[in-house]
Amino acid sequence: MDVSPSNTKFILLWLLCSIMMFNSVMCKVPCNEKDMNILLNFKNGVIDPSGMLSSWTWFTELDCCEWTGIMCDNITGRVTQLNLPCHANHPSVFVVGDTPDDKSHCLTGELSLSLLKLEFLSYLDFSNNNFKSVKYDSMGSQNCNGLSKGNSSKLQYLDLSYNYDILIDNLRWISCLSSLQYLNLGGILLHKEIDWLQSVSKLPSLLELHLQSCQLQNIYPSLQYANFTSLQVLDLAENDFISELPTWLFNLSCDISHIDLSQNHFRGKLPTTLLNIRSIKSLLLSANYNLQGPIPDWIGQLEQLQELDLSYNSFSGPIPTNLGNLSSLIELNFLSNHLNGKFPESLGQLSNLEILRLAENSLTGIVSEKNLLSLSNLKHFSLSSPSLVYDFDPEWVPPFQLQGTWLGFVSGKLPSWLFTQSSLKTLTIEHSSASFEPLDKFWNFSAQLDYFSLTNNTINGDMSNVLINSKFAWLNSNNLRGGLPQLSPNVSLLNLCNNSLSGPLSPLLCHKMKEKGNLVSLVLSMNNLSGELPNCWMDWKSLIHVDLGGNKLTGKIPHSMTSLSNLLSLHLNVNMFFGEVPTLLENFQNLLILNLGENNFSGAISKWKWQGIKVKALQMRSNQFSGNIPPQICQLSSLMVLDLANNKLSGPVPNCLHNMTALVSDTASVDKFGIRIPVSVNNFIFTLGLNIKGTELPYSNLVHAIDLSSNNISQTMPLEIFMLTRLQSLNLSHNRLVGSIPKDIGNLKQLESIDLSNNRLSGEIPQSMSTLSFLAVLNLSFNNFMGKIPLGTQLQSFTNLSYIGNPQLCGPPLTRNCRHDETTDNTKPMTEDGDDVDRFEVYSCFYMGLGIGFAVGLLGVLSVIYFNRACNHAYFRFLDRFYVTIIQKWNSVY
Ligand SMILES: *[C@@H]1O[C@H](CO)[C@@H](O)[C@H](O)[C@H]1NC(C)=O
Ligand SMILES: *[C@@H]1O[C@H](CO)[C@@H](O)[C@H](O)[C@H]1NC(C)=O
Ligand SMILES: *[C@@H]1O[C@H](CO)[C@@H](O)[C@H](O)[C@H]1NC(C)=O
Ligand SMILES: *[C@@H]1O[C@H](CO)[C@@H](O)[C@H](O)[C@H]1NC(C)=O
Ligand SMILES: *[C@@H]1O[C@H](CO)[C@@H](O)[C@H](O)[C@H]1NC(C)=O
Ligand SMILES: *[C@@H]1O[C@H](CO)[C@@H](O)[C@H](O)[C@H]1NC(C)=O
Ligand SMILES: *[C@@H]1O[C@H](CO)[C@@H](O)[C@H](O)[C@H]1NC(C)=O
Ligand SMILES: *[C@@H]1O[C@H](CO)[C@@H](O)[C@H](O)[C@H]1NC(C)=O
Ligand SMILES: *[C@@H]1O[C@H](CO)[C@@H](O)[C@H](O)[C@H]1NC(C)=O
Repeated sequence: MDVSPSNTKFILLWLLCSIMMFNSVMCKVPCNEKDMNILLNFKNGVIDPSGMLSSWTWFTELDCCEWTGIMCDNITGRVTQLNLPCHANHPSVFVVGDTPDDKSHCLTGELSLSLLKLEFLSYLDFSNNNFKSVKYDSMGSQNCNGLSKGNSSKLQYLDLSYNYDILIDNLRWISCLSSLQYLNLGGILLHKEIDWLQSVSKLPSLLELHLQSCQLQNIYPSLQYANFTSLQVLDLAENDFISELPTWLFNLSCDISHIDLSQNHFRGKLPTTLLNIRSIKSLLLSANYNLQGPIPDWIGQLEQLQELDLSYNSFSGPIPTNLGNLSSLIELNFLSNHLNGKFPESLGQLSNLEILRLAENSLTGIVSEKNLLSLSNLKHFSLSSPSLVYDFDPEWVPPFQLQGTWLGFVSGKLPSWLFTQSSLKTLTIEHSSASFEPLDKFWNFSAQLDYFSLTNNTINGDMSNVLINSKFAWLNSNNLRGGLPQLSPNVSLLNLCNNSLSGPLSPLLCHKMKEKGNLVSLVLSMNNLSGELPNCWMDWKSLIHVDLGGNKLTGKIPHSMTSLSNLLSLHLNVNMFFGEVPTLLENFQNLLILNLGENNFSGAISKWKWQGIKVKALQMRSNQFSGNIPPQICQLSSLMVLDLANNKLSGPVPNCLHNMTALVSDTASVDKFGIRIPVSVNNFIFTLGLNIKGTELPYSNLVHAIDLSSNNISQTMPLEIFMLTRLQSLNLSHNRLVGSIPKDIGNLKQLESIDLSNNRLSGEIPQSMSTLSFLAVLNLSFNNFMGKIPLGTQLQSFTNLSYIGNPQLCGPPLTRNCRHDETTDNTKPMTEDGDDVDRFEVYSCFYMGLGIGFAVGLLGVLSVIYFNRACNHAYFRFLDRFYVTIIQKWNSVY
């Protein structure tokens, strides 16, 4: 290596520079050769798809101090900084799971910490790249001998955050970086490192520690103190800590100013030791859900406090009045707790306050201008409690100009000061009986808003002359009537579900606009819209979600609708459409949810083209579809919900259902998110989903269901059905099936509901059925089953209604015992319909956000959610966490 060309070049440059030294201030000391070799070595392990490091080569014209991302000391020529974060690209509309941050241009491969041999390196930032691993073993775990010889590391700043695939299983090497002041390993997997605190608390100069979203589990709940001596910022948000708030945190000998423990599973009360940290400016405990007890009075003594976020917890009792003493407060967030009592007027004195969020509590009493009197810097304000009375002076002009506000349960009149808010961009008013009159004035005002959500109010005007101009307009569950409004090209999401709108779709769809429309989601379900689908869909190619369910629409699907090639979800259910639809799937190659249920569509489904379709839910119940169920349907490998009930289908159940791999567990790509499909639209998320009752399952609406009931399906049940081990619901009732239940039914361990009633099935009930431990609904009635019902807690927990109409069946819970002495069973045949469990037509305007609503216990909350890039990875890792994250972000725009 000694006589390498780089050496020669280095000497030449150095000579050249020395000669010119006196003449030119422009001339810099060339980079140190040792440093250059370290950099080139590092580059060997890196995969660099977009040539970010293309300047890193010895034969470049550039000195290594001028390579991309490098900075040197201009006197010694030693490398001091390496600054190579990556910026991910985002399309404006994408399915969150399918299209993660596009990091294809970022650095990947191995990130070798041999870089720390750069003796004068003080700053290292590789954040948000796509590295797959970190190599740190060369550092040596005990003596740090991998570091620069002689003296300890000069590294002060280390940021490797959001390289989501990196896993670090021990952090002992960190303690070698004794000059470290800033450490960010956010988004890196650290769940295997159980002694993280040991390593990081040894760093004597550490000012900021960011270990958010690392899957950390151990917070050392019983440790009395930690050895941090300089720490000011501690970010441990979005980890897996489960305990009370740990003692050591409030017993630090340093002046900590920022603590973020949001989105963990901390529980219990706020400890009085919190008072020890008088230096605290920012205390964030949001979305732990189980922090509880009163908000203590003494919080009013933390005089430096600027930011207090206790949102999404279970705090109860009143808001302490002496919070009004915290004159430095900028943000006070108590959103979604169980706080009661009055809205203290003392808060109205916090003249620095910019953010005040009190919505989703149980406050009582009166709110008036006195509560907001001196809040001249207020920008975001939210308040929503069922028993709170709004009593604002109509003449009051507030000292603030809000950017976002959210009011709930307003009765009487809307506070007139709202209309003085000319900077307002985001407005939610929900669950309110207040009059929005005069509506002209209100719609005029709304034109300035980027986002509004006016859900579950009593707005009752005629919409036919209204022009909607906001990006996101939620007007569901009001009393709106008349024809459809017109849209400006600015509208991305429109929801008018559950109103009394009537007339045709054409005013909205066929009205010519100067510019191209940007509508992504159109929800007009549950109105009285009538007429045929107009042939104007070619102007709306940006649509990915269309829901016209529950209207009086009729006719065939027009040709222009097939131009909606971006469609992910189409609901035409509960209307009076008719005709054949064979090419629908073929034209909607991206479709994930198709709901045609409860119409008069007809034709043989064997004519449909199924190949290459990724559809997850096919809901076609209650139509006139006929013919056999074609074996090609088994090519739908992503299918999770197949509902063909109540049609005119005949022939056997195809014997290839096991090819629908999404219904078979242990498949390589188990889709964690099921049929809840989050779509990001300009950084807001809304969720596509089904209209189903079955979502009581708190965190998993991973619905796996097959319903072929009420057809003319014949022959035996193919064994392949019983290979669908993820199946939660199977309904084959009201057909003409024969044969027996195979013992393989015991494979369907996830089964919660099975209905085989009203067929011609026979034989004994297999013993294996008694092992289905989640079974909550069982209907075997009206068949020819015989013999004894297998014993075991499971099958006896149902009533005799599950078994009646099988004269030869005996044993508990039937009263007929299995000897030949017949007891007379007088039970009358049941009413026809025994299946009410997985009917997919149950309607709700909130269904798009239903999963979110359940996840955080806020059913009424909006379906649109703000989403930011930094939270993306949480999505990939934790379903629940994801929804928490995005719902918080959404609320943060109010
Ligand atoms: C070295 O860099 C510093 C900061 O960039 C600058 O202020 C200083 O003038 C430079 N010195 C020389 C000799 O160029
Ligand atoms: C190591 O640091 C000490 C003081 O901290 C200094 O005197 C010495 O010169 C340094 N040695 C090297 C090789 O940098
Ligand atoms: C704190 O430092 C002391 C002495 O160096 C050590 O014994 C103890 O284990 C350290 N505690 C933690 C939590 O690192
Ligand atoms: C706080 O730390 C000190 C040591 O610095 C320890 O003696 C004391 O017990 C700790 N206090 C609590 C409440 O744990
Ligand atoms: C704090 O607030 C309470 C109640 O609002 C008040 O009585 C008390 O004087 C205040 N203390 C200080 C130091 O301002
Ligand atoms: C709608 O608002 C009323 C109050 O006006 C409330 O009682 C009801 O629970 C709300 N409905 C939903 C679904 O949130
Ligand atoms: C609505 O705005 C238009 C134009 O800005 C204005 O002419 C009209 O008077 C306004 N209507 C009301 C009721 O404020
Ligand atoms: C769309 O919004 C922009 C500002 O966001 C506004 O200037 C423009 O007038 C709007 N377009 C229409 C047609 O209203
Ligand atoms: C089912 O999958 C197997 C291979 O996994 C394939 O050979 C067969 O053709 C498939 N059947 C159908 C009807 O798709």
